[in-house]
Amino acid sequence: MFGRVKSLDAILATAEKKSLHRSLGAFQLTMLGVGAVIGTGIFVLTAEAAQKAGPGMMISFVIAGIVCAVAALCYSEMAAMVPVSGSAYTYSYAVMGEMVAWMVGWALVLEYAVAAGAVAVGWSGYFVGMLAHLHDYTAFLPDIVIPAHLAAGPSGGGVINLPAMIIALLVTILLVIGTKESAAFNAVLVCIKVTALTAFVLLALPVMHSDKFIPFAPLGFTGISAAAASIFFAYVGFDAVSTAAEETKDPQRNMPIGLIGSLAVCTIFYLLVAAGVTGSVGAQPMLGADGHGLAPGSSELTAACKGIGDQAVVCSREALAWTLRQIGYPQIGNLVGLAAILALPSVVLMMMFGQTRIFFVMSRDGLLPEVLSSVHPRFKTPHVITIITGIFVALFAAFFPVGALADISNSGTLFAFAMVAVAVMVLRRTDAKRHRPFRTPAVNIVAPLAVLGSVYLLFSLSWYTLALFAAWAVIGLVVYFAYSRGHSHVGRGLVEVHEDDPGIPPQPVAPLPGGVELD
Ligand code: ALA
Repeated sequence: MFGRVKSLDAILATAEKKSLHRSLGAFQLTMLGVGAVIGTGIFVLTAEAAQKAGPGMMISFVIAGIVCAVAALCYSEMAAMVPVSGSAYTYSYAVMGEMVAWMVGWALVLEYAVAAGAVAVGWSGYFVGMLAHLHDYTAFLPDIVIPAHLAAGPSGGGVINLPAMIIALLVTILLVIGTKESAAFNAVLVCIKVTALTAFVLLALPVMHSDKFIPFAPLGFTGISAAAASIFFAYVGFDAVSTAAEETKDPQRNMPIGLIGSLAVCTIFYLLVAAGVTGSVGAQPMLGADGHGLAPGSSELTAACKGIGDQAVVCSREALAWTLRQIGYPQIGNLVGLAAILALPSVVLMMMFGQTRIFFVMSRDGLLPEVLSSVHPRFKTPHVITIITGIFVALFAAFFPVGALADISNSGTLFAFAMVAVAVMVLRRTDAKRHRPFRTPAVNIVAPLAVLGSVYLLFSLSWYTLALFAAWAVIGLVVYFAYSRGHSHVGRGLVEVHEDDPGIPPQPVAPLPGGVELD
């Protein structure tokens, strides 16, 4: 089961040979991380966390942040030591062998593709909200109300979420024609997001009332754990920093700074925003007749919200804009909404890009058909895999609620996090002498904590999320034994074959979201 390890030295030698242009420094990496991280999680899912935990969601943010912090410390050791593309998939290949690597890569599909769908649905909430307040925005255009059946999937009281589907398809087109988000453009979007969150915090914190925090945990610690497992989504994306390892200057120093720096910035903002929402408009969940919290994204919650005219933050699909409108700042609420509308598509882009890159590396290793990594003659992008990914993301976005997508994505990410932490521990024993530019501090505590934390959050997800995750894993195993095992380059003793094979490009041709040019 743990056979077919890809030699670490071979991976590093390949990376040396490919020699991508190393242009990213610590600051750009941190910006890349913040750009990938701040998105639907904080702008939209804050409402879902409130529905699951009430004001106790503050603790949920802390728990999810701690799990990410210990995972980031493990990622940093691997990313600095194995600064190549492929992230958790590549690390696992080198340490625990092909089958585990395959399962991790398979789980990363959930992380990236399903997350892209979730962010698209989050964007749709703000877009629909903006159209509904168009007159406030422009003063000369009338409000436009998108019919409910076109603005949400079936469980949200609609039929199809058209805006979410359209944004996913637009991003796919951008990726196919090779649109690159330059580092400068990413920096502008990061500034927009950070400004929006800062404005929110500055306006919401002064009107906080301590009584809004009571009862603090109406649904108990189970609710707090469930919210932590969901709001974990808000932190996902910092590992995008590690996928840029091959393009990083002095990765030994800069990767850990980029990973941990972006996580630190986001955690501070998230705690302040969660406090602002709770303290200003309150964050009490909607309860069913039996006193249980209604599931976010369910038709029961949609109906209960209708009953109170959607007058609760847990009913809002644009939580931060809604809160500001409630506390008397409608214009700034609209601007925060506009910031989300401008910035969230880039998170969709980064997630979808991450997906194509993981598929690319897996196909380069022979585990997926080579046709998937074929490159468009004119655009020089891996168009086949981009289009396939885009269609799936658009379908997820069209028919599923944001919270369910985020939870499914989290299940894949948590599995990958746990595996990276295991890889760090295993490699410390099997290859203790290898030079480690960054060593996870107190690894005997931090790495097990990362594993336990990830497993704890994984099992705090809803049972149907876990069932879907298990089903996905079973499908993955079937594909592995039916196809990948027989075609694996490592298995066929052809580890380096892709270097000379004209049918497979030697490296992904689309640039990194950070605007990195490939040599
Ligand atoms: N962390 C990213 C978001 O919240 C995926 O949108």
